[in-house]
Amino acid sequence: MKSGIVGAGFMGRMHANVYKAIENADLVAVADIHPDRAEEFAKEFGLQAYNTVTEMVEAEGLDAVHVCTPTFTHKDLTIESFKAGVNVLCEKPMAMAVEDADEMIAASEEAGKKLMIGHCIRYWPEYQYLKKMVESGEYGKLLSVNLTRFGAFPTWAVDGWNLDETKAGGGVLDMHIHDTDYILYLLGEPDTIDSWGTVDKTGPGHVFTTMTYGNCVAHLEGGWNMPSDTPFKMAIRAIFEDGCAIMDQGPLTVYKNGQDAFEPEFEKMEAAGGGNLSDLGGYYHEIQDFVNRVQSGEPFEVVTPETSRRSLEITIEEIRQIKQKFSL
Ligand SMILES: NC(=O)c1ccc[n+]([C@@H]2O[C@H](COP(=O)([O-])OP(=O)(O)OC[C@H]3O[C@@H](n4cnc5c(N)ncnc54)[C@H](O)[C@@H]3O)[C@@H](O)[C@H]2O)c1
Repeated sequence: MKSGIVGAGFMGRMHANVYKAIENADLVAVADIHPDRAEEFAKEFGLQAYNTVTEMVEAEGLDAVHVCTPTFTHKDLTIESFKAGVNVLCEKPMAMAVEDADEMIAASEEAGKKLMIGHCIRYWPEYQYLKKMVESGEYGKLLSVNLTRFGAFPTWAVDGWNLDETKAGGGVLDMHIHDTDYILYLLGEPDTIDSWGTVDKTGPGHVFTTMTYGNCVAHLEGGWNMPSDTPFKMAIRAIFEDGCAIMDQGPLTVYKNGQDAFEPEFEKMEAAGGGNLSDLGGYYHEIQDFVNRVQSGEPFEVVTPETSRRSLEITIEEIRQIKQKFSL
C-alpha cells in the first residue's frame, strides 16, 4: 500500500512520523500548496514532493491520501482525492458544516473508496481503557465523567488559518470536538446537551458542556484561548458506583475501595528505525487501523464517517448554544 500526505504542517509531520512504525504500508509522497514546504518536508522524510493531490496520486499510483490541511479545505481535498481514486484519512474536524460532511460521504460512496476522520482520541490507550471500564461493569455504573482539553492558542498554523473562525471554527470546533466525539463513543447519544462558553476574535474559544445520560452526568470543558506558555491539559475524571479513574497531569490511575490504586500499563511503540514512539499514542493505533482496513476491505468500526458527521453536528449545536447565551 502506498500513501501520500497533503499538508506539510504540524499534523502532516505527526502522520509522517507514525509511518516509521507502520510496517504494511509506505509513505511515498507529500503535496502542499506552498512548494517550498512540500520540498522541505519531502527531504526530511525521504518522499516525492507535489503541489496538488491529483498530481501526487497520478504520478505515484497511490492507494491512500492523508488530508492534513486546514479544516476549511477538508471537503474539497477529500473530494479531489476520491475523484483521483484513493482512500482517504482526513484530519478532524471532518468539515466546517454538516452539509460538507454529507458531500464527503457521498463522494466516498460514489468512488467506492474508504473515508476515515482522524478522531484519534477513540484510539488513545487511556480513553480505550476507560471505555472498557464502563463496558465491563466491574466498577458498577458510571455516575459522572469529566473530560477536559485546553491549552495555548496554536500559533504554528501556516498563514494563520486558525485565527479565522470561518476557516477553523474557534477552539470549540478545533480542539473540544475531540471530547464531544469521545463521549459519543463512550456513552452514545445524550438525553440533553447544555453548553455555555466564551467567544473571542477567533470564534467560540472555551466551552463548558453538560450532557446527561439518564442519571449519569458528563461534563466537558475545552478551548484554546490561553497565553503561549500555558501548558496543554488533557484530563479524565470518571466516577463509578464502586471506583474511579483519574488522569490529570499524570498517568491514568484507577481507584477502588479495598484495593490498591493502580496505573494501567500501555504498550510502548517502537519506530521501525528505532526510537520510542509512545508519545504518538492514539495516532499510531488510528493510522494502523486505517491501513489494515483499507488492505482487508473490512469496514471501519471505531471511527466511521457517520460517527464523525454526528460529532460535527453536536459540536455545531454546542457552538450555537454558546453564541446564543453569550449574546444575551
Ligand atoms: N488530531 C489531532 O490531534 C490534531 C491536532 C492538531 C491539528 N489537527 C487538525 O489537522 C488539520 C491541520 O492542522 P495543522 O495544525 O497541521 O495545520 P498547519 O497550518 O500546521 O499545516 C497545514 C498545511 O497545509 C498546507 N495547505 C493549506 N492549504 C492547502 C491546500 N489547499 N492544499 C495543499 N496544502 C495546503 C499548508 O501550507 C500547511 O503546510 C486541521 O484540520 C486541524 O484541526 C488535528
